[in-house]
Amino acid sequence: MFTTQGDIGLIGLAVMGQNLVLNLERNGYTVSVYNRTTSKMTDFVAENPGKKLLPTETLPQLVASLARPRRIIMMVQAGRPVDMLMSDLVPLLEAGDILMDGGNSLFHDTERRSKEMADTGIVYMGVGVSGGEEGALWGPSIMPGGPQAGWESVAPLLRAIAAKAPEDGKPCVAYLGPGGAGHYVKMVHNGIEYGDMQLIAEAYDILRGVLGLTAAELAEVFTEWNSGELDSYLIEITSKIFRRIDEETGDALVNRVLDKAAQKGTGKWTSQNAMDVGAPIPTINSAVTGRIISSLKSERVAASAILPGPQNAPYTGDRQALIDAVRDALYASKISAYAQGMSLLRIASQEYNYNLNLGEIASIWRDGCIIRARFLNRITEAFEREPALVNLLIDDQFRDAVTQRLPAWRKVVITAIERGIPAPAFSASLAYYDSYRTANLPANLLQAQRDFFGAHTYERTDKEGVFHSSWE
Ligand code: 6PG
Repeated sequence: MFTTQGDIGLIGLAVMGQNLVLNLERNGYTVSVYNRTTSKMTDFVAENPGKKLLPTETLPQLVASLARPRRIIMMVQAGRPVDMLMSDLVPLLEAGDILMDGGNSLFHDTERRSKEMADTGIVYMGVGVSGGEEGALWGPSIMPGGPQAGWESVAPLLRAIAAKAPEDGKPCVAYLGPGGAGHYVKMVHNGIEYGDMQLIAEAYDILRGVLGLTAAELAEVFTEWNSGELDSYLIEITSKIFRRIDEETGDALVNRVLDKAAQKGTGKWTSQNAMDVGAPIPTINSAVTGRIISSLKSERVAASAILPGPQNAPYTGDRQALIDAVRDALYASKISAYAQGMSLLRIASQEYNYNLNLGEIASIWRDGCIIRARFLNRITEAFEREPALVNLLIDDQFRDAVTQRLPAWRKVVITAIERGIPAPAFSASLAYYDSYRTANLPANLLQAQRDFFGAHTYERTDKEGVFHSSWE
């Protein structure tokens, strides 16, 4: 049997799992490791000699190797693999043990599993982990949900391995709420990630389409942007991407990458759920749609030969002014996208009784995760100024930031439309802003149409009640 006991067990040694193990080990924990394909586990242990790792070849061995109460993190593919693993693992555990799902599980699944586990006394937690391979190794942002007691037991461990925010050194982890709250917040993080990425891609498309900027020039522009208000991981990696030369061709590698975006589904889940709870998130929706339309490559190629666009004359305006306007439009669109994402969290929190703390969520996204950005501090500050803030756009500082950039934002969207460059996320972000600030939308006409053809009734502006009219 084992002479030392594991402080924590980790199941699933794909790259995220491996890196989380190394992170835990570096922080002083002895980690019992298990993988369904045993050779992956033995290779991993062999590649890391001298580390406090306990190799285990079966689930009973893994369970036997752990100190009580046992703490186990599952890092396996979301969906059926999690259920299959749990059906083998749960009978081996006992009341008080803590089982964490660190994958990108759909929060509905986490809710279901939490309910199924409630009677067993085993503490089940859905833990969102963001940061990719590097984050898992050096400090991810961690979004745990589940029973409060479980959080208290694993908090020191999660704090140890989480990223530390550069501004104040605080660990990027906080207890988010019951049931699937952690995975819910991770899902919305990913939706926002999709929005950020699509907006950056559109900025690139406008700069290359209108000004013909080369990859090398774009690298300079993005490097410059990363030193200001747009300072973020995604802008930083974008500048690096533009610098990367393809050894085979000598061309910028990005130019050789096929324009078909893949997705694993978390962005789509965000859009689907936003529809369910009634939260408008048009920027994220357009990002999901943008990936889908990109995947129709052969249709687009065929259509490009027959569908005309505008006859574009060379751009004669001030080039630097347009670059600056795109930067401003990107920042304003980002504010709009985060306003949508945070308001989705607020609405869902009411729907699912998650009691989410929006300022705290922004603060644990400051480092470690894919959407990490200087900007997140401003969101935390906005919620500190007004904890019940219903929408970021009405915070004084964000309102001023958007107001200053409105002319540039509109100009960039108009330029894209005039020149036939698709900018769905820029446009959707601006349309969200314009819709949100409009006291009288044309939905009166929608209601009249509904009442006309289906007697669906309507409310009036001038008196209480529900009305139906004969419209002809
Ligand atoms: C993270 C990421 C990660 C996500 C990938 C790919 O926070 O570390 O969000 O969880 O799975 O970025 O997502 P797509 O394949 O859907 O683009």
